[in-house]
Amino acid sequence: MYRIALLTCLLTVSLMNQVSGLETVTGKYGDIVEIPCNNGRVVETEVTFVKWKYDKDGNILVKHRDQNATVSSDVNYKERVGIKKDFSLFITQVSMADQRTFTCMVVGTADILEYPVQLAVYKVPSQPQITNLTTVMAIGKLTTLAQCRSEGANPAANITWFKNKTPLMTDGAAIKITTNVVVDKETGLSTTSSTLEYTAVKGDIDAKFTCQVQHIKSANVDSSPLVFTVNYPTEKVNLQVVSQGPFKEGDNVTLKCTADGNPPPSSYNFYINGEKKTVNSNTYTLTNVTRENTGEYKCSLVDHEDIVSSVAITVEYLDVALSSTGKIVKKLGESLEMTVDVKASGTTEVSWKKGNAKLNSLPKFDNLMYSDSGVYECVASMADLKKTLTFELVVEGSPVIKNLIKERGLGMTKVLKCVAEGFPKPTVQWSVNGSNDESVSEPGKVTYSLTIAPNDNLTVSCTVSNVLGSDIKSINVSSLVEDVKMDKQADQKDEYSDQTVMAVGIVVGLMLAVLAIGVAYWLYMKKFREGSWKTGEKEDGSAEESKKLEENQSQKADV
Ligand SMILES: *[C@@H]1O[C@H](CO)[C@@H](O)[C@H](O)[C@H]1NC(C)=O
Ligand SMILES: *[C@@H]1O[C@H](CO)[C@@H](O)[C@H](O)[C@H]1NC(C)=O
Ligand SMILES: *[C@@H]1O[C@H](CO)[C@@H](O)[C@H](O)[C@H]1NC(C)=O
Ligand SMILES: *[C@@H]1O[C@H](CO)[C@@H](O)[C@H](O)[C@H]1NC(C)=O
Ligand SMILES: *[C@@H]1O[C@H](CO)[C@@H](O)[C@H](O)[C@H]1NC(C)=O
Ligand SMILES: *[C@@H]1O[C@H](CO)[C@@H](O)[C@H](O)[C@H]1NC(C)=O
Ligand SMILES: *[C@@H]1O[C@H](CO)[C@@H](O)[C@H](O)[C@H]1NC(C)=O
Ligand SMILES: *[C@@H]1O[C@H](CO)[C@@H](O)[C@H](O)[C@H]1NC(C)=O
Repeated sequence: MYRIALLTCLLTVSLMNQVSGLETVTGKYGDIVEIPCNNGRVVETEVTFVKWKYDKDGNILVKHRDQNATVSSDVNYKERVGIKKDFSLFITQVSMADQRTFTCMVVGTADILEYPVQLAVYKVPSQPQITNLTTVMAIGKLTTLAQCRSEGANPAANITWFKNKTPLMTDGAAIKITTNVVVDKETGLSTTSSTLEYTAVKGDIDAKFTCQVQHIKSANVDSSPLVFTVNYPTEKVNLQVVSQGPFKEGDNVTLKCTADGNPPPSSYNFYINGEKKTVNSNTYTLTNVTRENTGEYKCSLVDHEDIVSSVAITVEYLDVALSSTGKIVKKLGESLEMTVDVKASGTTEVSWKKGNAKLNSLPKFDNLMYSDSGVYECVASMADLKKTLTFELVVEGSPVIKNLIKERGLGMTKVLKCVAEGFPKPTVQWSVNGSNDESVSEPGKVTYSLTIAPNDNLTVSCTVSNVLGSDIKSINVSSLVEDVKMDKQADQKDEYSDQTVMAVGIVVGLMLAVLAIGVAYWLYMKKFREGSWKTGEKEDGSAEESKKLEENQSQKADV
């Protein structure tokens, strides 16, 4: 009867369990797990003994009331188990193999009750590991980007790929995600690996891809973001002029061809003056350009000559020519007309200068003068271009003496001045010896000086000559002794011989003469007051004074 009752009871318990579903306890892999017996509601005083067993016939331990538990010799558990006061079983270092049903059998005084509990063991997965990482994605081509792995999980971890925070799903064409779960035979833990194959589009240039490991017992863990170089073919090229314009003849002009593909091509075709040049660079420099370089330039891909771009270049130029340049030699009185011929790519301004002075118009002479000689500068400018041309005008002429004069010099000297015009500068020849000097006051005009101390009345001639001819003029010079004699007559007391005294002497002489005349006149008037002054006696009475006056006047004229 007892046996039958026990059996019936067992059946009832197992039936009850099957119907209601097993209670489950979860443990962390490697840790201690505690499996309660009837949720800890077993009352010790009502219990004869408690037995823990597993699966169908595995014995773990038995505990009689008021006794220490007896652990069975089962190899799976004898080292790892124990029982608590409330009859719950604890197992250390749980592993996947411990995922089974443990049953707490409580034998009371009248009943035998069984409380089965299912143990579930979990383990959180490892961090995501990226392998088989590629660096380059080609547009439009399904490429394996990377593999993401997470190991040692239970239950198996899920792996989800993201592109810029958006999850990626296999779509059978552009995206292919292959997930594989492998369970380790020894540990029972799962390794999830997921391979992402992806077809890039141009918008993926800076896209960040991440792999996320998801597990029921832990927070989601992201891999570090993966960035790929996106390769795509060139669709367009662009030709630019990188040198700073505008260009003028002699400049260097650098062209640069850029392509929108990645990676950019390493060589390009440049079409220079209709000639194709393939260069291993994206630039081409035209050196020392001329007006002939004005035109359209092109560049293209080497393997796709239909992908082409063009740019126009204008080379500015300025040509200036004068009807004559260098040294222009003309005769005095001749005419000269300069013409300037300008060829330029734009509006040109021409200005003229002679020396530092600006001229208002281009030089034109009907009657050349010596003063027209000089260096003339023609400046033509257009935008940044500037050209300067010069010519030197030389007006030549046979010398002509314009003036020959005499002046008082220092001490007992007289200075003769012979003013001549002519070019090339004439040489002078004086008919008497003396100390020579010369000065040029303006182009073509020379003043020659001769300082002499004449003892005699002289006729001095000045001869000027150059390769083109000569001129001569003479002047009469009275002796200085003569002059001094006259001065002495005027003022006998004067003992000084320097020129100041001499000049004063002349003035005093003059004054005395005037005074003498005045006195004479006064006497005359007093003596012949009654109409007698009309007689010829006047001449006699004042003959000496008159002579003196004349001499003084003539001397004055000489100086
Ligand atoms: C029970 O075990 C404890 C130590 O684990 C020991 O001190 C005690 O003597 C044991 N009792 C019996 C009845 O064997
Ligand atoms: C990943 O790379 C390893 C060798 O590095 C190779 O054996 C394996 O097949 C690769 N996996 C994939 C999915 O390409
Ligand atoms: C893993 O994926 C399965 C199937 O898609 C899903 O049912 C489960 O909830 C996922 N687990 C986690 C932790 O996201
Ligand atoms: C142009 O390039 C040549 C050679 O590269 C160089 O010698 C010259 O100085 C350059 N000219 C100018 C105006 O930069
Ligand atoms: C530039 O070209 C001009 C005419 O084409 C030539 O006279 C000149 O010597 C060249 N200069 C250089 C630096 O090559
Ligand atoms: C001028 O001086 C030179 C020497 O200095 C002399 O030979 C010449 O005779 C002099 N002429 C006259 C005209 O005095
Ligand atoms: C110089 O000429 C003056 C008249 O001009 C005359 O009186 C004088 O006697 C002359 N002297 C000599 C030395 O011939
Ligand atoms: C210079 O004097 C001479 C006589 O001595 C005379 O014939 C001549 O005309 C005079 N010349 C000048 C320019 O006065």
